[in-house]
Amino acid sequence: MNSTILTSINPLTNETYEMPAILDDRKAIDDFLKKNGSKPVVVVQGLGFVGAVMSLVCANALTEDYAVIGIDLAREDTYWKIKSINKGTFPIVASDPKIEEFYQIARAKNNLYATYDPYAYSQADVVIVDINLDVAKESNFYGDLDGYDVNLTAFRKAIQAIGNNCKEDVLVLVETTVPPGTCQKVVYPIIKECLEQRGLNTDKFKLGHSYERVMPGPNYIDSIQNFYRVFSGIDKRSAVATETFLRTIISTEKYPLTELGNTNATEMAKVLENSYRAMNIAFAVEWSRFAEEAGVNLYEVVRAIRMRPTHKNLMLPGIGVGGYCLTKDPLLASWSKQSLFDSKNGLGQSEQGVKINDKMPLYAYQFMKQEVGVDDFKGKKVLLLGVSYRSNVGDTRYSPVEPFYNYLLDDNAEVFLHDPYVRHWEEKEIEVEENITQVFKEKLDIVAITTGHVEYKDSHKLMNLLFSQDKLFILDTIGILTEEEITKLSEKHIVRVVGRGDIK
Ligand SMILES: NC(=O)c1ccc[n+]([C@@H]2O[C@H](COP(=O)([O-])OP(=O)(O)OC[C@H]3O[C@@H](n4cnc5c(N)ncnc54)[C@H](O)[C@@H]3O)[C@@H](O)[C@H]2O)c1
Repeated sequence: MNSTILTSINPLTNETYEMPAILDDRKAIDDFLKKNGSKPVVVVQGLGFVGAVMSLVCANALTEDYAVIGIDLAREDTYWKIKSINKGTFPIVASDPKIEEFYQIARAKNNLYATYDPYAYSQADVVIVDINLDVAKESNFYGDLDGYDVNLTAFRKAIQAIGNNCKEDVLVLVETTVPPGTCQKVVYPIIKECLEQRGLNTDKFKLGHSYERVMPGPNYIDSIQNFYRVFSGIDKRSAVATETFLRTIISTEKYPLTELGNTNATEMAKVLENSYRAMNIAFAVEWSRFAEEAGVNLYEVVRAIRMRPTHKNLMLPGIGVGGYCLTKDPLLASWSKQSLFDSKNGLGQSEQGVKINDKMPLYAYQFMKQEVGVDDFKGKKVLLLGVSYRSNVGDTRYSPVEPFYNYLLDDNAEVFLHDPYVRHWEEKEIEVEENITQVFKEKLDIVAITTGHVEYKDSHKLMNLLFSQDKLFILDTIGILTEEEITKLSEKHIVRVVGRGDIK
């Protein structure tokens, strides 16, 4: 027997949880379900940014009363999410007040429980798959993408865990962003084989696909509950079951569902949606450089163009593309074309979009270096405002701020970090200050606004803090400062904005 006691630390509360030596949570699951009587049981697999919030939406379903069990892995880096949900702290920090509201309602109703035990699948009427499916990128320090790989091993294992435990008539609803072809060629055969091996009927289970469009941030819950959805089933029965379920959790009167012909189509819709956005951003990159060289304010130009209804979603300049989806989904699609549909060629343009976007932090950094006019930041104190990749939420996955930060360290800067939504920067394993007054106690040389958090927008507090410093170089990487703020700050400091060549 292994005598080492493993622990998992809750980054939100700093509590340390001892991991169970024997992974058996049956009694607690049975007790939870007993208290919930005859309610249909929904199990959400994966308690990350999507699954944790999806479990809240299911626990607060519109037309049904579900008993909801969230399941994640008993690993040091994930066990804390399970404990945290059961102990009273929701594991996602975001500016949407509905998250805490929904969580407290679920706690009061006692219809949400979290576990690591796959036994939960055996009790489920519906299993929602909200786990990650990663792309392993081979990139160098400067963001050059040399290659990538999609490994389905962990995803297959997760589906096997469902197949080895589920009821024969379960509805499995895949929400994970998957390479097109995955439900037909991977998920369906695995569940069928598992049921066969267990001597169960293989004609009764239903398999649906409905990708998540959740937007972490101020409208987190609404982006699931009050938003349009696309769905499909592996067969007609599955499509009907998927639609029936979705109608209980989504305001479909106001936001009608869209059914597509098969699961390949919905899987393709998701990665196409994100590839389109990634390419749209990549398109803005070279124009940002052009604007900087030509003395043009690209924000002003884009806003003028956006007045044309056909050009409303032209993108603005920025520090880069981060997060879990846009940085990988075009590659998932290209991989699928070659590996699941045996095509000789991938999706060249979409891959190129990712390559361009991956270089954005380097361009923003080079712009700063050129404008400061130094080769090195030795002896300089630099404050980064925001480490999250997205405004108003604490998500640092593939944040473009990470390479920007790395370049600063490489150039010998002393870097200070502030983010109201991130206390611990997991990828860098460092603490981040949440009190903005605290970071301004340092005598700074450079302040870069690196995330568009609401706390930095139209903020008197930030303006006062910036004015409290001696002459600074201020870099706005996302165009958050207003014209008035730029004019005022320029009286004392040097202000530059990525994508604006008109400020000198
Ligand atoms: N984050 C977003 O904004 C967003 C938006 C739309 C779609 N998506 C897609 O949703 C999916 C999930 O994304 P996410 O952001 O929640 O990822 P995440 O990494 O935050 O969460 C995934 C969770 O699944 C858990 N997990 C992995 N294997 C498991 C298993 N076998 N059993 C139980 N739990 C397991 C992980 O431990 C992790 O906690 C991805 O496919 C993503 O592309 C994400």
